[in-house]
Amino acid sequence: MAEKVRVGFIGAGGIARSHLEALSKVPDAEIVAITDVSREAAQAMAEKTGATVYDTAASLTKDAGVDAVFILLPPFAHGEAEKAALEAGLPFFVEKPVGLDAGQLNEFAAEVERTNLMTSVGYMNRYRESVNRVKDIVATEPAILAFGGWWGGSPGDHPWWTNRSKSGGQFHEQATHTVDIARYLFGEAVEVYAAAANGFNKGIPNYTMDDAASVTIRFANGGVANLMCSASSNAGGSLFLDVHSLNHNFHFTEWDHHVRIKEKGADPIEIKGEPGIFSVEDAVFIQAVKSGDRSGIRSTYSDGVKTSLISIASNVSLETGKPVSL
Ligand SMILES: NC(=O)c1ccc[n+]([C@@H]2O[C@H](COP(=O)([O-])OP(=O)(O)OC[C@H]3O[C@@H](n4cnc5c(N)ncnc54)[C@H](O)[C@@H]3O)[C@@H](O)[C@H]2O)c1
Repeated sequence: MAEKVRVGFIGAGGIARSHLEALSKVPDAEIVAITDVSREAAQAMAEKTGATVYDTAASLTKDAGVDAVFILLPPFAHGEAEKAALEAGLPFFVEKPVGLDAGQLNEFAAEVERTNLMTSVGYMNRYRESVNRVKDIVATEPAILAFGGWWGGSPGDHPWWTNRSKSGGQFHEQATHTVDIARYLFGEAVEVYAAAANGFNKGIPNYTMDDAASVTIRFANGGVANLMCSASSNAGGSLFLDVHSLNHNFHFTEWDHHVRIKEKGADPIEIKGEPGIFSVEDAVFIQAVKSGDRSGIRSTYSDGVKTSLISIASNVSLETGKPVSL
């Protein structure tokens, strides 16, 4: 491999701009190819990086001579990019949630496993010291209960986020970070039950998602979680996750997952969330591609699929009004 890892971007929207910035701090990476269904978007990003624009994911993976691709697409747009990376045998980083269609996700996960392809999913909070300190504690003192989620204000007009058939809804698209941390701490989920609030947000174009939802998850370790999302809380948003084990309380707050850990009989300790977490997760992936050592990657494609299957099940539960087994 050349000195630098040659990266291709599939998708040149908002999160692609974040990874562009993040990768600019990773000296071993260079972005050499970009594709987007909007040629304008791809072109605009290419002008900043000197990358070449390709018409499709398939032409990029075949012709650009890249070592890895970053799949930076909205939930509904997955499929062709993963197929192209799999066919070319190219390691890929993919943003969360990894897709919308359980059948397709299971198929790709099986193919990734069969071919032993290197992958990484954008659950960046798994790289935080706060989250990993808690993970170390619950490894010997299991997590029992969690309560948390993402509460935000009423959205405006958006090309896909507010449309459930494109985003999967807020719980799937956004609260997936909280679902993933719960899975990281509790282990696998076995059952999901969801209820939603509707009819409060009015007059938003193409709005088919819930105003708020509350999802109960049972885990194989015997623990339970109640995780929520809201897109109708206009007096101020909140991102939080409270977890407890027998002798510890863990209180995560805000986007950077600052944590306060209280052990029975001891003074609490606080661990701040680190800035620049996208650079941290990107550097781990680039290093893995360069060295072949994937031990630093905290969320593989198959693992990311398991997180998505929880929120896909919560959508099934919303439709049927019944608990869904996983
Ligand atoms: N990790 C995080 O914290 C984080 C933050 C923001 C977004 N995201 C995730 O990133 C994903 C993309 O979000 P975004 O904010 O960049 O969306 P966006 O709408 O800003 O950009 C998406 C881009 O993909 C392009 N696109 C759509 N379909 C395509 C296709 N089939 N092939 C190629 N390009 C296509 C669009 O033209 C657009 O440029 C979402 O899944 C979102 O959840 C993750």
